[in-house]
Amino acid sequence: MRREVAVRVAHISDTHITKYGMHLHEFLDSCIRILNTLEPEPDIVIHTGDLTDNGVLLDYELAVEKMEEVEPDILFLPGNHDERNYGDSLFREMISQTDVLTSFKRLAVLVLDSAIPDVDSGRLGRWRRELLKTSLQAFSENVLKIVAFHHHLIPVPFAGREKDILEDAGDVLKTVLETGVDVVLMGHRHVRNVITVGKTLMVNAGTVSSVRTRGRLGNSFNLLDVTEGGEIVVSEVKIPSGELHQLGVYPLRRGAV
Ligand SMILES: [Fe+2]
Ligand SMILES: [Fe+2]
Repeated sequence: MRREVAVRVAHISDTHITKYGMHLHEFLDSCIRILNTLEPEPDIVIHTGDLTDNGVLLDYELAVEKMEEVEPDILFLPGNHDERNYGDSLFREMISQTDVLTSFKRLAVLVLDSAIPDVDSGRLGRWRRELLKTSLQAFSENVLKIVAFHHHLIPVPFAGREKDILEDAGDVLKTVLETGVDVVLMGHRHVRNVITVGKTLMVNAGTVSSVRTRGRLGNSFNLLDVTEGGEIVVSEVKIPSGELHQLGVYPLRRGAV
């Protein structure tokens, strides 16, 4: 059955851009080509961090060059790799401010910085949890609320020994559920995954162009299609083939979009 798409969000992550490491340039190019030719075109692309591999100037220069090739609007937030080597200053200078709310159509997207400079673990902390609550509570019921950050909020399968989950995951989860967040977007583990907690969809993206994949999961990004019929269809887009693999169809909170 063909579903009419009201809003399309492309969720990319963990590009790990560098000239000097385990970054797959041709896979990044494939991802950009797929993003620019998707039909319908994404209303927004959200990059959930580890844009660069080392957070150094040469990585950021290449990242800026490559991300300028992406034609749809794109939102960024930093991952742990972006904040290595004082990279947090370059991220803010060259890529984006962090902890920013964007709203358009019937969509509100809050991107948060969960990274801590030179540490792999992550944390949102009290003021970002408060920001999440106050900024999203202001929107009416018919707005789809998306929160994005790099570190995972709940454990992700296929990722081996659990590590680097948000240090304050319990409190973040409570805030997310109480605020009526519809979708949480995350990266970091290089594993695509979708799970619901209450009425909230927790979506992890795989890696676009790092060699550090897991098993046969390969490289990918996610597409989230909000349908006129009140569902969210989450698909994985394989890189480099562009082949779509549906991860699940989930009912929307009544009234949203
Ligand atoms: Fe990563
Ligand atoms: Fe990461």
